[in-house]
Amino acid sequence: MIGAYQASSQARVNAALDSLFTAPSPELARLYEAMRYSVMNGGKRVRPLLAYAACEALGGAPEQANGAACAVELIHAYSLVHDDLPAMDDDDLRRGQPTTHKKFDEACAILAGDGLQSLAFSALLEPTLNDCPAQIRLDMVSTLALAAGPAGMVGGQAIDLGSVGLKLDQNALEYMHRHKTGALIEASVKLGALASGRATPEQLQALQTYSRAIGLAFQVQDDILDVESDTQTLGKRQGADIARDKPTYPALLGLDAAKAYALELRDQALSALRPFDAAAEPLRELARYIVERRS
Ligand code: IPE
Ligand code: IPE
Ligand code: MG
Ligand code: MG
Ligand code: MG
Repeated sequence: MIGAYQASSQARVNAALDSLFTAPSPELARLYEAMRYSVMNGGKRVRPLLAYAACEALGGAPEQANGAACAVELIHAYSLVHDDLPAMDDDDLRRGQPTTHKKFDEACAILAGDGLQSLAFSALLEPTLNDCPAQIRLDMVSTLALAAGPAGMVGGQAIDLGSVGLKLDQNALEYMHRHKTGALIEASVKLGALASGRATPEQLQALQTYSRAIGLAFQVQDDILDVESDTQTLGKRQGADIARDKPTYPALLGLDAAKAYALELRDQALSALRPFDAAAEPLRELARYIVERRS
């Protein structure tokens, strides 16, 4: 099921994203090319899938979440471009291709990331991508700003970089993961739910419980794959966390306990979806996929 759902959702978000990278003047061709390169280079599109699935779980049509889907993927792509820079994780390979600073140059990669971040907010404000009532759109913009910013993803990245070589305890590691990765995943679900135009406070609460669990599970699985996958399958360098002495779940708990924890988080997420009917099946499948994925 997830295969077909993933393919159709990826095609939908890719078509919407593709329209955003036309340079307004020849002087900006290289910057726009770098932004396009950083986004239209594969990627599982998990965050857009979550936005579509949350919208559908509440009875909305997936197209209603196009703005949300683009916005979260643009923030994600920007975060990867910056995450790979020499000053951060210093990686050369992303999604099976040279990282943006390797393909272009560092200054161009920094600016491409900056540009992608701004485009994310534009996507939420573009009526052809997101035609919700103004109040809902405002709620979406504020949700994304909070999740992407210093109290969310950027804060998590700051903790990550400040923790290299340190031995974090499980609370500190969880705090870091919830911020650097969980915050945007939570926002992806909430944005999709808001885009449906019919989310009740109770539904938003249940979806938050779901997304908190899979947000953490996603990074636990990312840490696990760094240990036991391979560079070809991952499309990024396997063993990079170990080489850089990053605090990770397998490093803290051991591989088996980290895997058990990921499954426990999946079950928490599935429990939170109990009040939902069959329309939430894609969300359920995504919870399973996040901890079973091999890349
Ligand atoms: C990788 O994210 C970075 C993390 C936040 C763990 P993904 O595994 O979603 O990467 P892509 O988008 O599929 O390349
Ligand atoms: C990345 O975490 C989190 C963000 C980009 C916000 P990682 O550094 O673990 O991601 P990968 O492993 O390079 O994809
Ligand atoms: Mg990193
Ligand atoms: Mg990294
Ligand atoms: Mg990683």
